[in-house]
Amino acid sequence: MTIDKKFIEQFVNITSKAALSTSYLVGKNDKIAADKAAVDSMRTELNKMNIKGRIVIGEGELDEAPMLYIGETVGMKNGPELDIAVDPLEGTNFVANNLPGALCVIAISEKNNLFNAPETYMQKISTRTKGENVVDLDYSVKKNISNLSDYLNKNPEHLTACVMDRPRHSKIIDDLKKLKVNIKLITDGDVSGALLVTNEKYNVDIFLGTGGGPEGVLAAAALDAFDCSFQGRFLFESDNDKIRAKKMGINDFNKKYDLKEIVSGDSIFCATGITSGDLVSGIKIDGNDFISETLVTHKSSGFKKKVKLIKKI
Ligand code: FBP
Repeated sequence: MTIDKKFIEQFVNITSKAALSTSYLVGKNDKIAADKAAVDSMRTELNKMNIKGRIVIGEGELDEAPMLYIGETVGMKNGPELDIAVDPLEGTNFVANNLPGALCVIAISEKNNLFNAPETYMQKISTRTKGENVVDLDYSVKKNISNLSDYLNKNPEHLTACVMDRPRHSKIIDDLKKLKVNIKLITDGDVSGALLVTNEKYNVDIFLGTGGGPEGVLAAAALDAFDCSFQGRFLFESDNDKIRAKKMGINDFNKKYDLKEIVSGDSIFCATGITSGDLVSGIKIDGNDFISETLVTHKSSGFKKKVKLIKKI
C-alpha cells in the first residue's frame, strides 16, 4: 500500500494556507495568536479531506490542547487511514519577532507507521550518509566527525555541523571547535536544522544536539525520503514524562531509535515557509494572490521538490 500521489497537492495546500494565516502575525510579538492562526487553519483544512486521519503528533494531549491533540481524528472519514504529525508553527519566536526560518510542517504516513512521540526532548543526529554506522548517538563527537570525514572524504576543517545555540550543547560545540569543524549555530527551528544535511547546497554535513521529540519525528519523515540517516533518543526527565511515555507504549526509556523505527512505509512531508529561511522562502503577498514555497517529499514516488504555489487569498 502507498499513499496516493493526489494527496501531495492537498497537503501542500494545507501547509500553504496555514502559513498564510500565520504570516499576518509576523512581527506582532504574539506567539499564542501566531500558533492559533496556524492550528485553526490546518485543522479546518484537514477536516475537509477525504481521509480517516489520526493525529499522532500534535499540539499536546486532549487536556492541554483543544485542537489537533494527540489522538484526534481528522478528515471526512471516507478515505485511507493515515497517521498525521503536525507542527503548524515551527519557530514561534521567528514569527513573533519577524525572524527567518518559520515553517508550517506536516508529515503523513499510512496507519501505524509513524512514531507517536511524546512531548519531551530528543537527542538527535542526522547526516547525508545512508546508515552504515557512520555516525551514531552513542559515539563521541570526535568519533562521529572522524567517521564522517572518512566517509565523505572531507577533512574535518571542511565539514560543517549544525547545532542549536543552547547551553546544553556547550560540550558538543567545544568538541567541534577542537576538531576545527565549521559550526552553523541556529537559534531555533531544528526541523529545518536536521534537514540541512539533505542537499550539499546547504553546506551542512551533520546535525546534532537535543531538541523537541515531535520535531525529530517530523524531520525523520523527510530524511527518510532523502535517504539520509537519522537517530533519536527521547529524554525523560520527570516522573510525569515517564508516565506519559508508558501510556504511549514506551517502556525502554533509554532506547535509541533508528530512522526506520520512527517512520516506515510510505510518507508525505510538507514544510511551507512562513518567513524566508535556509530551506524555503516565506509567504509573499502580491495583490490578491499569495505565493508560498513548500519543501515536499513523497517516499514511494521519489518526489522531492520545492513546490511554489500562487493562489488567490
Ligand atoms: P516552537 O516553534 O514550538 O517554539 O519550537 C521551536 C524549537 O526551536 C524547535 O525547533 C526545537 O525542537 C525546540 O524549540 C527546542 O526547544 P528549546 O527552545 O526548549 O531548546
